[in-house]
Amino acid sequence: MTEPRPAGAVHVRAPGKINLSLAVGPKGEDGYHPLATVFQAVTLYEDVLAVPDEVIRVSVTGRHADRVPTDSRNLAHRAATLLAEATGIDAGVHLQITKGVPTAGGMGGGSADAAAALLACDLLWGTGLAREELGHLAAELGADVPFALTGQTAVGLGRGDALTPALARGRFHWVLAIIEDGLTTPEVFRAWDQLNSGARFAPRISDALMQALVAGDPRRLAGHLRNDLQVPAIELQPRLREVFKAFDETSALRALVSGSGPTVAALAPDHATALAIAAAVEQADVADEVLVVSGPAHGARLVESVRDSE
Ligand code: C5P
Repeated sequence: MTEPRPAGAVHVRAPGKINLSLAVGPKGEDGYHPLATVFQAVTLYEDVLAVPDEVIRVSVTGRHADRVPTDSRNLAHRAATLLAEATGIDAGVHLQITKGVPTAGGMGGGSADAAAALLACDLLWGTGLAREELGHLAAELGADVPFALTGQTAVGLGRGDALTPALARGRFHWVLAIIEDGLTTPEVFRAWDQLNSGARFAPRISDALMQALVAGDPRRLAGHLRNDLQVPAIELQPRLREVFKAFDETSALRALVSGSGPTVAALAPDHATALAIAAAVEQADVADEVLVVSGPAHGARLVESVRDSE
């Protein structure tokens, strides 16, 4: 985003995420599944430029932009509307989204848009909410939205929205295999329901995983990565079998589906090896795009605020 910015515009960036662990319990009466998850924000971002406008509207460019709705189904649109309602303000905004996170990929791209839109509109409109208040609005918008505000590495309980920061040392290097034919979160949870009917257990996070994070040791962490949505995601998107086969033939420590998929994230021992793994998976031609990222990354934050006098 190097073009001149309109006066008064606010530019906020929010990260995509992967789930290092995602344990799912049986669906509750509210239609949601209790989760115990560990999120890690990674260096793949959504950029939201909030420009003063008469009405609330959204436009989208960047990765998979053609598949993102710009009307009130768009989570950033809903975020701006919710903030206006919650603060009783009658204001408009043009949210110009530049997507870096795959759409419907299980990496929380839409949630990052919503988190960035909340923060950008709060700054643009001068509504001055505390981070905690933004967090409450974020949780109303979706289970992954509060995490996109806070970023870093965090444990998510409840619907995934009750967050506790996790201690993680060092950087973890990931290779992402992106499949453009996305999956929606509800369909993957429905497939999980069918595979786990009658299940009675509370989801939990392994202590060993938390210890591996504190140690900053990718080899140890690899042994404890887990995603209960992986089996239903593979069932719905059989191309994933080829992706896993391709990673198996590299020095990736472990590969797993990110969130509800279909993005697959493979943990590498270091950055140089991540580049070599990415080249091999690219060569195998099993994914639509292969990227190298690292985590943890920061949560939604202000990049630039263009003063009116400029
Ligand atoms: O909260 P969010 O809008 O992102 O969730 C989308 C859908 O994913 C929900 O409507 C629900 O079907 C499913 N979901 C769930 N349990 C969760 C989170 C999401 O069943 N903890």
